[in-house]
Amino acid sequence: MNQKTRSAPPRAMAMLESLRGLGYSTAAALADIIDNSISAGADKVQIDFVWNGPNSRVSVLDNGCGMTDAELEGAMRLGDKNPTDARSPHDLGRFGMGLKTASFSQCRRLTVASVKSGERSCLRWDLDELAANPNSEWLLFEGPAPGSEAHFQPLNGEASGTLVLWENLDRIITEGYNSDNFNDLIDDVESHLAMVFHRLIQGPHARLQLVLNRRPIAPWDPFMSGHPAKPWTSPIAHHKTDYGTIAVQCHVLPHRDKLSNAEPPASE
Ligand SMILES: Nc1ncnc2c1ncn2[C@@H]1O[C@H](COP(=O)(O)OP(=O)(O)OP(=O)(O)O)[C@@H](O)[C@H]1O
Ligand SMILES: [Mg+2]
Repeated sequence: MNQKTRSAPPRAMAMLESLRGLGYSTAAALADIIDNSISAGADKVQIDFVWNGPNSRVSVLDNGCGMTDAELEGAMRLGDKNPTDARSPHDLGRFGMGLKTASFSQCRRLTVASVKSGERSCLRWDLDELAANPNSEWLLFEGPAPGSEAHFQPLNGEASGTLVLWENLDRIITEGYNSDNFNDLIDDVESHLAMVFHRLIQGPHARLQLVLNRRPIAPWDPFMSGHPAKPWTSPIAHHKTDYGTIAVQCHVLPHRDKLSNAEPPASE
């Protein structure tokens, strides 16, 4: 039976605006960006929050393998990779969406500059510019927004690495938001990243250094490994799945009476 078909390309603006509602917190969105840096082999990731009222910005700089111009174009495209394709075991990505969905959950302008083999490329999504041209195609701009060039200086002289810049932080900087709120957000982000990446940033031979506004983030282990007041930790059980072996371990955390104020239990 012959079926009639019609092409149904998404409308850029409608699609991008609806992707903004995926419910990321700022900290979870940053964790997605940092996952990409880790997949790119970075051992240092620097996150910077810069308060400047409505022109405040957030950037993530890594020293990973970077991207060529063509790779960067693919990275900025929505769903460039098929989630069912096999990936390298060290690649934390799956859907080909994280960079865009995480960023648009926080900002209206996403600019990514990357250096690979000494060559630099830079591409930008700008939802305000797209909104001003509603019938436009999927417009990716080349280079930083006018006036934002200096924010990419940290990549100067680097052989490889990537800088992700979020500007027009409309989901963060809402009516009445001030620098105190911004500082509270930075604290929030610090504790979340300290927990999510604690295995990678702990120990003298840590695999990763995470730096937030020029201060290294110290790990926070929610399992309180090695704490003398932990009543019980199970042996590690191994479960085979179609996707590899999963190690499972149960932890019972110390009673709160056995903790000092400097050791908040995981539920707090
Ligand atoms: N910091 C980075 N350094 C090098 N390559 C990157 C970086 N960030 C993104 N990329 C490239 O861009 C691609 C798209 O990233 P994106 O986060 O959108 O999707 P993903 O990581 O493939 O999957 P997921 O949606 O699960 O995060 C990545 O697969 C990677 O090839
Ligand atoms: Mg990703």
